[in-house]
Amino acid sequence: MSFEIRVERTENSRLSQLDPQNIGFGKVFSDHMFLVDYKNGEWTNARIVPYGPLNLSPATSAIHYGQSIFEGMKAVAHQSSDTAVALFRPEENARRFNRSAQRMAMPDIPESLFMQGLNTLIELDKAWVPRSEGGALYIRPFMFATDDYIGVKPSDSYCFSIFTCPVGPYYNKALRVKVEEEYSRAAPGGVGFTKCAGNYAGALYPTALAQKEGYDQVLWTDPISHEWVEETGTTNFFAVCSDRIVTPALSQTLLAGITRDSVIQALRHLGHNVEERPLSVQELKDLLAAGELNELFITGTAATLVNLDGFGHRGEYHSVITQGNQTVSKQVKSFLDDLRCGAQADPFGWIKTLD
Ligand code: COI
Repeated sequence: MSFEIRVERTENSRLSQLDPQNIGFGKVFSDHMFLVDYKNGEWTNARIVPYGPLNLSPATSAIHYGQSIFEGMKAVAHQSSDTAVALFRPEENARRFNRSAQRMAMPDIPESLFMQGLNTLIELDKAWVPRSEGGALYIRPFMFATDDYIGVKPSDSYCFSIFTCPVGPYYNKALRVKVEEEYSRAAPGGVGFTKCAGNYAGALYPTALAQKEGYDQVLWTDPISHEWVEETGTTNFFAVCSDRIVTPALSQTLLAGITRDSVIQALRHLGHNVEERPLSVQELKDLLAAGELNELFITGTAATLVNLDGFGHRGEYHSVITQGNQTVSKQVKSFLDDLRCGAQADPFGWIKTLD
């Protein structure tokens, strides 16, 4: 199905103000944004307009009752031409977005509308895709409830939007994580598997406490026993052991990371043995004591793939980075980086290029 998208170009591109050597993450926004409204049971008024503030009522129900979901994606420069850019498995983001929407009692966005809005926007702001090493155009699709109404019920109206920002690395060092045993991110039957805004808000206070103790992030554990590792505040989690790589199995309390899935498939393609199963903090400690835990790394769209320095548990710090030279994480990271930019053939059909 094809939708009509009205395009209003900016008359004042801000691109020349961008300092490619000093991009940071999430502070600079490209020239345009895509918007489409949900009213009377249908998506209407699809448009691309100059990036700018939204005009909202103070009673906007997303602000009060939290019907707000988002996605994270990246476009990178592709080697096939000087102007080509590549998207990575974008349809997976559209599908996960609709899984979040369903759980939050929000309407589906047709995959074709998601993709058409995305492609039109990226085509228009392609010059914002950094061509520097490690740079990318971060893409933020989101949807929120727009009824101005006080009362707890699903909104009747919504706004779906996509904006983009040129970014450098989200993390620029190996992280120290605290195994979190007091607070929980998600519970069975809850919304942990969605990318709803509240999941991130709920993590801020425990993360701030961990940071006061000198950690960079929390490593969430299951909400009942706090014995089983789940994910960090921003990423999924992998442990590289001597003869296998283990990552917590997906459940209702984990975000099904697209980078996580891609890393698993890439590792298997590269000949590694990957186990998706419950992984306890005790197992990590036992493996480390036995000299069998070689690397820890985390994965996400924003973070890409980053090593962990180690983890803190009950006041004791366990350094892992000292165990080896991060061979597996380096191998899979460069395989995926090369695949994204076209330096490596794509055996999976994951890359969607726009010329
Ligand atoms: C992403 O990785 O894209 C996310 O949405 C997580 C957030 C830390 C930026």
